[in-house]
Amino acid sequence: MFQTHVYTNRRKAVKSQIDSGILLILGNQEAAYNYPANTYHFRQDSNFLYFFGIDLYNLVGVMDVDNDKDYIFGNDVDIEDIIWMGPQPSISNQAKEVGVKDTANLEALATFIAEAQKQGRKIHIQPTYRGEHIIQLADLLNVSHKEVKDYVSIDLIKAIVSLREIKDEFEIAEIEKAVDIAYDMHTTSMRMAYPGRVEREIAGTIEGISLAQGGPVSFPIILSVHGETLHNHAHGNVLELGRMMVTDAGAETTMHYASDITRTVPVGGKFNERQKGIYQAVLDANVKAIEAIKPGIKYRDIHFLAAGVLVDGLKKVGLMKGDTAAAVKAEAHTLFMPHGLGHQMGFDVHDMEGLGENYVGYDENTKRATTFGTAYLRMGKELKPGIVLTVEPGCYFIPALIDEWKSENKNSEFINYDLLETYKDFGGIRIEDDILVTKSGHHVLGKPIPKTIEEIEATMANKL
Ligand code: GLY
Ligand code: MN
Ligand code: MN
Repeated sequence: MFQTHVYTNRRKAVKSQIDSGILLILGNQEAAYNYPANTYHFRQDSNFLYFFGIDLYNLVGVMDVDNDKDYIFGNDVDIEDIIWMGPQPSISNQAKEVGVKDTANLEALATFIAEAQKQGRKIHIQPTYRGEHIIQLADLLNVSHKEVKDYVSIDLIKAIVSLREIKDEFEIAEIEKAVDIAYDMHTTSMRMAYPGRVEREIAGTIEGISLAQGGPVSFPIILSVHGETLHNHAHGNVLELGRMMVTDAGAETTMHYASDITRTVPVGGKFNERQKGIYQAVLDANVKAIEAIKPGIKYRDIHFLAAGVLVDGLKKVGLMKGDTAAAVKAEAHTLFMPHGLGHQMGFDVHDMEGLGENYVGYDENTKRATTFGTAYLRMGKELKPGIVLTVEPGCYFIPALIDEWKSENKNSEFINYDLLETYKDFGGIRIEDDILVTKSGHHVLGKPIPKTIEEIEATMANKL
């Protein structure tokens, strides 16, 4: 937990941005896995963590904007709980740690909300992402589950985004810790990427590294020799020479801040010439995009800059042709990179995505594209100091997509479809780093993780 004033200041700041009413921030409850007493690993709601800091289930935080008061509602453990879970500090003692003086049990919350509604006060809620919350809110607000969404407050969403997207020095230190754990995960993955291994041996090993150093992984590990499937969570392939292996994995610290790193390596530790050509194109896009990060530039412009660098690299190997700027304008690059350059990152690996992607990545000055590939760009708006985001260009050879575009002769002035046929067995490459926007430019977070061809080959030579 951070120092008490951090939470007090955050609550003060969000209340100052809302005209009136009650801000209702639900903590998470335990969620059953395959029977009630067998639960998923508990993860607190990120907004609850941000404003109320307590990492325990069944709590509700309330901020009363009009009376400038904060409350935590939750039930103290009873003897049955103590037998199974051990002693727990009282809710009121935990609340004091985050600067909240007023606490009460959950029954009192129902009365509190009913009273506020009677007085015609506005209740602001955030969008829901768990069924349990919809039921809890329907009960509290005395509406049907279908009407809960009517209480979602755009003012609250915008206020939370404006605060959470600017990371302070303590949050940045936590994210750096998460990247440092990812360093161990990724160098281990590289050193294990030899023929005969099954993907799950590597995925399981690096998940263990995350668990041993902090929290669980920050999202389910993507690890595959079929990196052309962007979010490939199946880990059953046996590694063979000639394939590239994508590892997209990050850790969560004990304070629940995330990292999100991708590295792609040649099985067996040595790049062949074909792999070098595509890898260097993606690496150049990653490096040039990072170099361009600074306040005042729109991330969408950096996305297209990276696309141009990728096109140049693919022209070098003969897969693309023609004028680079015209190819990017025609979005011909989306055949190879049908996703966005990156997203914000913090408590959530796609930070604040639960509040709505467009509130996080776009604003009045930057509207989201709807065209193929570019529509997946989650972050397009102008950068400000304090924003943390990922840079993750990729190049994928997706046979079904290649066949579709080829059958339509799509962008054939920019794509060499004959040569592309010979790449259908290539797989995919992604290279992802976590970057802080600073006042003067940018800072690559954490200990540098090998990413040049030479660095990767040198790391992999130290086989595990
Ligand atoms: N880890 C998923 C992503 O890179 O967005
Ligand atoms: Mn990732
Ligand atoms: Mn990412």
